[in-house]
Amino acid sequence: MRPESDAAAEGQCSRVADLLSLQNAVLEAVAVGHELPETLELLCREFERLSADVVCSILLLDDGRMWHGAAPSLPAAFTQAIDGSSIGPRAGSCGTAAYIGKAVEVIDIEHDPLWEDYRAFALPYGLRACWSSPIFSRDGAILGTFALYFAECRGPSEFHRELVRVSTPLAGIAIERKRMDAAEQARLAELAASNARIEQLNQSLEQRVAERTGDLHRRNAELARAFEELQRTHTQLFEAQKLVSLSHLVVGVAHELNAPIGNARVLSTTLLERCDAFQKRIEAPMRRADMVRFVADMTEGCQILSHSLAVAADRIGRFKTVAVDHSISSRTHFVLREAVEDVAELFEPVLGRLRCKLDLDVPVDIMLDSYRGPLEQMLSNVLENALEHGLNVQDGGAVRISASRATASDIEIRIQDSGCGIPAHVIDKVFDPFFTTRLTDGYSGLGLHVAHNIVHGLLGGVISIDRESLNGTGVIVRIPLVAPVKPASA
Ligand SMILES: Nc1ncnc2c1ncn2[C@@H]1O[C@H](COP(=O)(O)OP(=O)(O)OP(=O)(O)O)[C@@H](O)[C@H]1O
Ligand SMILES: [Mg+2]
Repeated sequence: MRPESDAAAEGQCSRVADLLSLQNAVLEAVAVGHELPETLELLCREFERLSADVVCSILLLDDGRMWHGAAPSLPAAFTQAIDGSSIGPRAGSCGTAAYIGKAVEVIDIEHDPLWEDYRAFALPYGLRACWSSPIFSRDGAILGTFALYFAECRGPSEFHRELVRVSTPLAGIAIERKRMDAAEQARLAELAASNARIEQLNQSLEQRVAERTGDLHRRNAELARAFEELQRTHTQLFEAQKLVSLSHLVVGVAHELNAPIGNARVLSTTLLERCDAFQKRIEAPMRRADMVRFVADMTEGCQILSHSLAVAADRIGRFKTVAVDHSISSRTHFVLREAVEDVAELFEPVLGRLRCKLDLDVPVDIMLDSYRGPLEQMLSNVLENALEHGLNVQDGGAVRISASRATASDIEIRIQDSGCGIPAHVIDKVFDPFFTTRLTDGYSGLGLHVAHNIVHGLLGGVISIDRESLNGTGVIVRIPLVAPVKPASA
């Protein structure tokens, strides 16, 4: 016979082994991710296997109410009756334990006041005593209860207490794990939903971008078409303008040459007639006086003829300057100030006669790579106008030629006189060929037209009349420091 202490130790060992096997079974179920009811049921069954005199029940607490998590050996009708009941100070063993957060031991369901509302459900199934312990989460919140039901009025044994000490944390782990999984699932679902929303937004954004891009392309195409149309119209206008200018030019040239050549023609016919008549009389005796008169007439006629032809030749010479021929204009590097001084020197006699003051405000450091001759010609034409149209009616007066850098690559020259100014209604015409307000005084109206052709066609700039000029006439010339390689057609 073995000593009593050996038997006790053996019993102890087998209990520990039982507890460990229960613990392992449940933890494994949790680890492999079994559903919660399945794990809790396993716990109850394992418990009941180790202690055949009890029936286990695990209730889960949700928002103040209790629901069965597992109770594999309790009658379904009983669990259904208990499901959804509120916790409280007198809510059976489980409802009260969950309410007060402590184990509740009812050894006589039939008479214990805590079971007043529930005993009618329990007694018909032979449930006489119930010991319920709260299940806590790791942070101390109550997750539910673990209860043992007995078929007789009694309390738990030491073994029961030990089993419950192990089982409640196991149930807590399983419940918490499930809740964490559920929270994680919800988080993932939320993430998936927000991803879907973002995806949808992206799609609608892409669609909008595609629509806008299409719209933009359409508008660009329309704009390009409109631009082409505009260019075509501009070219047509330009051609039409050229034709108008050309016909003005032809009319002007014809008008200018008509008088001297017409005179020359009339005169030459008269001279021929005189010669004819003289020849007929040459056979007959002739008086010396007739001879002298004939020679005098011839001489005078030839002089007038020569003068008319000289006028015609002079006018043809001026017409030649209208078309700026860059191939014969030489391009050089020169100091603007020196070119302006050359022009001023030419005008000294006229300036003195008109008692007019010429003021130069041209920096000495402006160096041009351009056409000096045509530039001086342009300045002369403008200066000539200032003296002949602006200042001719008054005594004294002044002209000022100034220059400055407009940008890093352009300069602005301004020729300002203090004369009578150009009437507003003719300002737009002064650059037209043959426009003059003094035709009867022998002016041909080509000076500013030539100046315009030089500036626009050769120097690569712009010439204009300052409409804001309050006193006299201001002519503004803006040209690049370096003239274009290929001059534009004027
Ligand atoms: N500084 C000025 N002051 C007043 N009127 C001017 C001035 N410059 C030009 N004009 C006006 O502009 C017209 C055109 O000038 P433009 O130099 O082209 O021709 P013109 O001087 O009349 O003739 P041309 O220069 O061929 O001898 C002039 O007839 C004159 O009416
Ligand atoms: Mg002129």
